[in-house]
Amino acid sequence: MKHIKLGDLDVSRIGLGAMSMSHAYTGAGSDDAESIRTIHRALDLGVTLIDTAEVYGPYTNEELVGRALKGRRDQVVVATKFGFMSHTDHGAGALDSSPQNIRIAVEGSLKRLGTDYIDLYYQHRVDPDTPIEETVGTLAELVEEGKVRHIGLSEAGVETIRRAHAVHPITALQSEYSLWTRDPEPEVLPTLRELGVGFVPYSPLGHGFLTGQIRSTDDFADDDWRKNNPRFTGENFQRNLRLADEVKAVADEAGATPAQVALAWLLAQGDDIAPIPGTKRVERVEENTAADGIELSAEQLAKLDNLTPAVGDHHDEAGTRLLGR
Ligand SMILES: NC(=O)c1ccc[n+]([C@@H]2O[C@H](COP(=O)([O-])OP(=O)(O)OC[C@H]3O[C@@H](n4cnc5c(N)ncnc54)[C@H](OP(=O)(O)O)[C@@H]3O)[C@@H](O)[C@H]2O)c1
Repeated sequence: MKHIKLGDLDVSRIGLGAMSMSHAYTGAGSDDAESIRTIHRALDLGVTLIDTAEVYGPYTNEELVGRALKGRRDQVVVATKFGFMSHTDHGAGALDSSPQNIRIAVEGSLKRLGTDYIDLYYQHRVDPDTPIEETVGTLAELVEEGKVRHIGLSEAGVETIRRAHAVHPITALQSEYSLWTRDPEPEVLPTLRELGVGFVPYSPLGHGFLTGQIRSTDDFADDDWRKNNPRFTGENFQRNLRLADEVKAVADEAGATPAQVALAWLLAQGDDIAPIPGTKRVERVEENTAADGIELSAEQLAKLDNLTPAVGDHHDEAGTRLLGR
């Protein structure tokens, strides 16, 4: 597995997102033993970056990752996130990146992960009620104290990234980026490159859509996050199937799977990018990790660059309001 640098943090260039093991998608939490085998298989295949968050579950995903990493902690860059839940008087569901909340959140995450340091600690969403300087100031104190090694942001806008980076070096931005979500390209990626901040694309498989395995949403559980997502509903879903078919056509030509092509395209965008495809299945982590060995031709990359854009926003209205602040 090739490695890249996020800022000055060394990681395998393909990571593993643990969210779907416990949260958001149909089948979450249904087979923890297979989820743990998936994490172990990822490590055996050379994956070093494991991504979780306090809010996944909530809490159960960090606990699961903690159990899986017992005895192997030193092999892994553990990334987790705070700020999507509040432990102060903001109300449980509120965004909260206040110093007081971060102090409480970090202790909980350390305990659940069974570790005394977090390699990469991300603010999950920008909190409009707390100046980013205050948030990063508190994170910098945690770095001083050895509880956190590196600081990250998620779905932050360029002004926030600059302000944060002026307080303490930001190691990585984690935002949605894939063949159907190209939003970071015009502004965010150039800013990160100017500042030397790494980029971690989340949902690099378009929440599973780009793999071509989702042809209908009938089997989604009612609480599946995608059930009300604009790209997965109604006419948009039907129209977006064309995009999955186009990825499949390139995959057939490249002798790879659509998931591998979606990841290989992201890897070709730069050596400061480390996607974190999510799965709770051994077979799929093997497939996804093997994208490290797929080289797409210039012609194939150009075809992918010019794919029909996805129809529909990538988050629902409430979710969209939290992005790019
Ligand atoms: N910062 C943020 O706000 C944010 C938001 C969303 C996600 N994330 C992070 O990003 C990670 C990945 O994102 P994601 O899980 O939303 O989306 P994703 O990686 O684009 O896709 C995951 C979905 O695709 C399926 N899948 C994975 N590999 C497959 C394959 N080879 N063939 C067919 N289906 C496959 C998974 O199902 P199975 O699990 O059943 O295999 C799962 O439903 C998450 O785990 C999380 O750590 C961060």
